[in-house]
Amino acid sequence: MSLAGQHFLGLRGVSADIIHAILDASEGFRDISRRTIKKVPTLRGRTVLNVFLENSTRTRISFELAAKRLSADGVNMSASGSSTSKGESLVDTAQTLDAMQADVIVIRHGQSGAPQVIAKHVKARVINAGDGRHEHPTQGLLDMLTMRQRFGHLEGLQVAIVGDVTHSRVARSNLIGLKTMGAQTRVFGPNTLMPRELAEVYGTTVCTSLRECLEGAHVVMTLRLQKERMTSGLLPELREYSRVYGLNSNAMKLARPDAIVMHPGPVNRGVEISAELMDGPQSVILDQVENGVAVRAALLYLILGGDES
Ligand code: CP
Repeated sequence: MSLAGQHFLGLRGVSADIIHAILDASEGFRDISRRTIKKVPTLRGRTVLNVFLENSTRTRISFELAAKRLSADGVNMSASGSSTSKGESLVDTAQTLDAMQADVIVIRHGQSGAPQVIAKHVKARVINAGDGRHEHPTQGLLDMLTMRQRFGHLEGLQVAIVGDVTHSRVARSNLIGLKTMGAQTRVFGPNTLMPRELAEVYGTTVCTSLRECLEGAHVVMTLRLQKERMTSGLLPELREYSRVYGLNSNAMKLARPDAIVMHPGPVNRGVEISAELMDGPQSVILDQVENGVAVRAALLYLILGGDES
């Protein structure tokens, strides 16, 4: 299967060959981003609409930069200031944008499944930039690119994911993508935030201690603590969460000596990860951000007909 002309709604069902093709193309776009002149004419005349109906810094700006660096016309829409705040339905908004002859609609939405709904009603190709608790496929790709750059391969990597897995679309996309690529995953977090079906649906190992999760890991990924969950009784108080589930340099001694630390951002410094670990040599958090632009450029390029070879 080729990506040309396809929607990109999740990593579920995406083959290892396609993921490799996206990651390979991303390397080229990362090189372009490092040049003095960071622009190529590849998508001149194409239109990319970024529809972000939930807050975002990394994903929104990296899609915007990716479109600009490929010379596409990129336009951004957010909830505030748009007619969604007057009650326009998601499908009506999408069809309105489609009528303006968008080639690609990038959508972030708080409801799981919103990109799938839009994809059924528009001619444009739809890219999921994060939907509810479902998937964040471009985050999964940029995370895999970051791991592949550091270790040279994904197959056989031991990847530990720590935190609130229940609410994390980042965790879901990573669990799906890493399994496809032959990596092994394990997860650890509060019992209240660890869905029972994890092992069965995602083929991951659910750990009962931080030690079990981190021991021998090549990659340790911690997730943003969604503080809004505190009020719903799903989590202990912040200090207690940090003591049991927080990552610091001491905990990282359980992982391999060459292990890397990842976080999708935004980070609660000193809660899910200590400041010294976040700013230290094991952290690849800013590499993840850089790779976000490259992966999104590669995806736009391949969906709009670029050559996968
Ligand atoms: N990782 C991520 O999705 O970050 P933003 O919410 O800033 O886009």
